[in-house]
This record gives sequence, structure tokens and C-alpha cells, in this order.
Amino acid sequence: MEPKPLEIDNLELSFTTPYGEVKAVRGVSLTLEPGEILVLAGESGCGKSVLCKSVLKLLPRYARIKSGSIRLCGRDITHASEAEMTKIRGTEAAMVFQNPLTTLMPSMTIGAQIREALRRRHLTPEEEEAESIRLLESVGITEARQRLSQLPLAFSGGMRQRCALAIALAAQPKVLLADEPTTALDGTIQIQILDRLKKLRDERGLSILLVTHDLGVAAHIADRVGILYAGRLVEIGTAEEIFYDPRHPYTWGLLSSLPAAARGKRLTPIDGMPPDLLAPPPGDAFASRNPYAIAIDYEKQPPLFDVSSTHKAATWLLDPRAPKITPPESARIEPFDSTKS
Ligand SMILES: Nc1ncnc2c1ncn2[C@@H]1O[C@H](COP(=O)(O)OP(=O)(O)OP(=O)(O)O)[C@@H](O)[C@H]1O
Ligand SMILES: [Mg+2]
Repeated sequence: MEPKPLEIDNLELSFTTPYGEVKAVRGVSLTLEPGEILVLAGESGCGKSVLCKSVLKLLPRYARIKSGSIRLCGRDITHASEAEMTKIRGTEAAMVFQNPLTTLMPSMTIGAQIREALRRRHLTPEEEEAESIRLLESVGITEARQRLSQLPLAFSGGMRQRCALAIALAAQPKVLLADEPTTALDGTIQIQILDRLKKLRDERGLSILLVTHDLGVAAHIADRVGILYAGRLVEIGTAEEIFYDPRHPYTWGLLSSLPAAARGKRLTPIDGMPPDLLAPPPGDAFASRNPYAIAIDYEKQPPLFDVSSTHKAATWLLDPRAPKITPPESARIEPFDSTKS
């Protein structure tokens, strides 16, 4: 059987800081299937970036994996050394960030930066040039040959993100980790880049883990959606299940605060703030903000209950003994064009 592109099993990751231990990832398990686009969503500080960066070990030294494992294309990399990670980065998995200027060198032409990324493939100079052009074209950059000799500053924000994507794809990774890749871009450009990612998945069978705080982005591109809250995966399912049959009150809250859903309805933001990860509460971390919380929410962490073979949610409301609650009207999503959000 082909190994899964990415398997994270019960991962616990903390930062050791002068204030104490920041428990940024608290027991997350998830699997990325071949050729799948899995979107992780949640509010700021819920652990999306940390989870993404942990896969390529792009975190500072005081970040520590306390337990659990990460497997990339079948290989256990939980405790891989920096030397091993240098081989893995780019080839097995590559990452793009919100601000492409964090990846692009300002004083190096785009062509030189792509060539640098192509080096591992040992191509001839002619092949390198042809491949550089092909890569730029594959991310939707026209007049690619002329573009090779330009510096990043000659490109617009959207074009820079395309260049960063071309560089990430140069060594033919199987997994692309994309952390808010379109957040800094305006609506139309955002959709163009998301559509490009879908095309890359279709053409190359690329597996994509995309992180966003914007459920509109998730609705546009996701096969499956995982919802993170306070370092935990609180709900995961197919895009249909998450948008049309959400089960976690936190997911209801996110959907209720989605502008696209609010057309004709009142936009209802979630009251309160996520908990401090230096001292997360003992029960369901969402309890204090959850209008439907029951006593046990304050005491015991809920397990991930199965809703279907593809859909799980960690809320005590799914326990057979819990009161039957209907999701609020504000969380009901009409079949919608999410990208307008
Ligand atoms: N280098 C670090 N040192 C200490 N704590 C950190 C560090 N990086 C992140 N954290 C903490 O880990 C938690 C998760 O942060 P993370 O950056 O993953 O959030 P996020 O979901 O990506 O949020 P955003 O939407 O704002 O990007 C937060 O509580 C954050 O303060
Ligand atoms: Mg982030």
C-alpha cells in the first residue's frame, strides 16, 4: 500500500518559555491522503502555523515534541536530525508562507532562485532553463522567459506568491504545506492562486495541507476541513460535512461569523478569547465561550466522537447522554459561493 503523504499521530508540542510551557499542539492526529487538499482552519493562535512548521521542523529550538509522531511519505521524522531534514525539505515536502518575501531573496533574480531550488535534480543548464520556464508557467506566470531575469520587487504581491510557489515546487515535493498563502492578497488574486493550487493537485497529484483562518478559503478549495481550537483538532470531516452538518459549537461559531453566511442573516462573532496555552483549562477548552456548554465540558476533555466514517467532532454534545441541541440558525450555510467572503 502506498504510504500516506503525511501522518500526524497524537502530536504534543510545547514551547519552553520564561513564562512557562506554551502547549501549542495538544494531541493532534490527522492524515493527509494522496492528492488531497486538507484545510486546517481556526482563529488566531490556535496552533495552525506551529502544526504546519512542525512537519518541516521550522520551529525554534525551544519548541519540543513531547509525544506523538510525524510520518512524511512513510518515514518517521519525529526526531529527524537537521541534516536529514535538509534532505527532506523541498523534496518530500515544501512550504509556502503568507508573506512570499520571507522565502524570496530580494537581491537575487527569480531565475537564479529557481535554479538554486532545481540544483538537486542535476539538470543541464538548458534543461534548467526550460524547467524554470515550465515551473513559472505552471503557477500562471506569463512571459516566463523574460521574468526569469527580474528581481522579486519587480513583481506584484500575487505574482511573488506565484514565484514562491514555483520555487517550492522545483524539487518536485509530494506534499505542499501552505500557511495562509493567500491571506495578504485581494479577493480576485486569492481565488486565482487557490485555483492554481487545485490545478497543481489535479495535474501532479500533489497533496496539500493548507492553513487559513478564513473558512471562505476552505470552502473554495478543501476536500476535507479540520478545525483547530487551542491546539486541538476539534472537528474534521469532508468539506460538505463541515459546512452543511457541523457538530462542534466552535465550528458553529466560526460559520456564524463567516460574512458569506451572513448575507441576509446577522453576522455573529464568537464572544470571548481563546484560552491561554500556558495553562489550558482542564475540560473542553471552548467551554467558557460555548453557549451550549454542559457541566462535563468544564471538567473533562471530550474525545473525538465519530459522526460518520469521515466526520469526527470532539464535543460532549455528541455523547448519547447529552441534551439534543440544534445548531443555531446563524451557522446554517446555504449552498454558497464562499469565495466572495
Ligand atoms: N516561537 C514561539 N514561542 C512561543 N510561543 C509560540 C511561538 N510560536 C507560536 N507560539 C504560540 O503557539 C500558539 C499557536 O500559535 P500559531 O502561530 O500556530 O497560531 P496560528 O493558528 O497560526 O495563528 P495565526 O492565525 O495568528 O497565524 C500560540 O499560543 C502562540 O502564541
Ligand atoms: Mg499562523
